[in-house]
Amino acid sequence: MEHAILLVDDEEDIRDVLNVSLIDAGYRVFTAENGKTALDLFHRHHPPVVVSDIKMPGMDGIELLRRIKLESPDTEFIMITGHGDMELAVVSFKDQAADFITKPINIDVLEIALKKVFDKIVGRRQLREYTESLERLVREKTELQSNLAALGLMIGSISHGMKGLLTGLDGGVYLMESGLKRNNLEQVDDGLKTVRLMAERIRKMVLDILYHAKERKLNRENVDVSQFAADTASTIEVKMTEHQIDFVRDFSGSIGYAEIDWESMHSALMNILENAMDACIRDTAKPSHQVIFAVRPEGDTVRFDVTDNGTGMDRETRDRLFTLFFSSKGCKGTGLGLFVSNQIVRQHGGAIAVSSTPGHGSTFTIRVPWIATDNPA
Ligand SMILES: Nc1ncnc2c1ncn2[C@@H]1O[C@H](COP(=O)(O)OP(=O)(O)OP(=O)(O)O)[C@@H](O)[C@H]1O
Ligand SMILES: [Mg+2]
Repeated sequence: MEHAILLVDDEEDIRDVLNVSLIDAGYRVFTAENGKTALDLFHRHHPPVVVSDIKMPGMDGIELLRRIKLESPDTEFIMITGHGDMELAVVSFKDQAADFITKPINIDVLEIALKKVFDKIVGRRQLREYTESLERLVREKTELQSNLAALGLMIGSISHGMKGLLTGLDGGVYLMESGLKRNNLEQVDDGLKTVRLMAERIRKMVLDILYHAKERKLNRENVDVSQFAADTASTIEVKMTEHQIDFVRDFSGSIGYAEIDWESMHSALMNILENAMDACIRDTAKPSHQVIFAVRPEGDTVRFDVTDNGTGMDRETRDRLFTLFFSSKGCKGTGLGLFVSNQIVRQHGGAIAVSSTPGHGSTFTIRVPWIATDNPA
């Protein structure tokens, strides 16, 4: 209600005269003969400006001012004061009246006062809009900056990682070449193994980056959880055996069907299984190592546990696990693994919990609801 005024005065003549003049001046006017009616009208129409007599029987103008300001501090008041009501006028100023005019009312003076008050309202609204758009701009700029910073960090880390992998690749190619020249098939074989390993690492890294780069939507399908667990286990089993790690599958029978994205959940688990394997390989203190992969239903979730008796980790590592690019493996790790795993599990509406004792080993527990909505992770 752009130019509406609530006019309150107990004298009918004043109401009538002012009503006509103000309508002529282009305002929409509601009139009330006492404070109570004024409050009712105010609640119904929310006019931005109230012009009120100070002295009225029953609720006086100051009481009306206080009540309305309490609910609506931005509503502006112009008080009408009689001759010798100076003290009341001062009180009303203290209660945030915008202006006052004295009786007998000069309509020009009232119009000037009204214009000032409406200008004030417009100015305040503009200021609020400017402030809001300024705040939005600052927010956008900050987001952009941190995106750029993350991007820079990412590119730096990727280049660094790639450099290491390419050096490895060169080494493999060199082994193959010199093996071929000398007809040393064993050396060729070693070289080939290195090349394969490096190619696989690069592939994994690129896939991780792609996953991270665009927020993939989940491609949920109805997955037989036992089948899924068995497939995932057999992908890593050979590598575990190669490193003399006892790999235990702790699940059997039918676990049920879950609505999950096979591909992404598979890679989330693979990284956690690879980490468990790495932790065993890096642990030189124990004579033998074991990784247990357990899957079972738990209430309304599917629960996966990956337990290793590898290095375990200290508090600091545990606190930073899921941070992008955090890795304690030097050039052997990119630190993307758990960041991505966590993102995938969260997208499924689930969570990863970690418990670990330095020197003893770790357990990663993943719980995923059987069916969940896609959370933007
Ligand atoms: N089972 C585990 N035992 C001990 N430390 C672990 C385990 N899993 C993760 N960590 C620690 O968490 C870090 C981050 O793991 P993450 O998988 O994110 O990266 P990464 O394995 O170093 O590299 P990649 O990106 O190749 O997976 C690891 O470097 C390691 O320090
Ligand atoms: Mg990893």
